[in-house]
Amino acid sequence: MTATSQPMPFSVPQALEAELDALAARYPEKRSASLMFLHALQDHFGGVSREAVEWTASKLGLQPINVYELVTFYPMFRQETLGRNQIKVCRTLSCALAGAYELREHFCSKLGLDAAKHGPQTTPDGKFTVEFVECLASCGTAPVLMLNEELWEKVTLPEADRMLTLCRP
Ligand code: FES
Repeated sequence: MTATSQPMPFSVPQALEAELDALAARYPEKRSASLMFLHALQDHFGGVSREAVEWTASKLGLQPINVYELVTFYPMFRQETLGRNQIKVCRTLSCALAGAYELREHFCSKLGLDAAKHGPQTTPDGKFTVEFVECLASCGTAPVLMLNEELWEKVTLPEADRMLTLCRP
């Protein structure tokens, strides 16, 4: 697995474990619940760590490799932990021309992240993850970004600053 930016504490809450146990019991083959386990763990922890892979394998009577191959095959799974606030800046053509690169650099500079690095960047306190994504289907209102589940359009640098004050603690 790739290295994580910080150790991911791993302890599955009892309620979540009970929910997943009930889910696994619905399948004649427990391994059929693998993807649902991984989605639930990613939702809870912000990513699928090695510990999450091992825990899932042990719960479903599989080898860790049987679970790990799912994590690496499906692009919706992440092995690194994401921040509590996710800022996804569109970098496709319209947004790139309208200032997406400046916008990402601005966030990185404000949050002490290295804009020269590729891929998602997460602050050491786990509060923010900043990353580029491809077209968010709002090209006419570029530059756009997603702050968690919300789409922001025609984002200016002062708006970007304001946005940071509205984020989850
Ligand atoms: S190019 Fe950014 S939303 Fe389409």
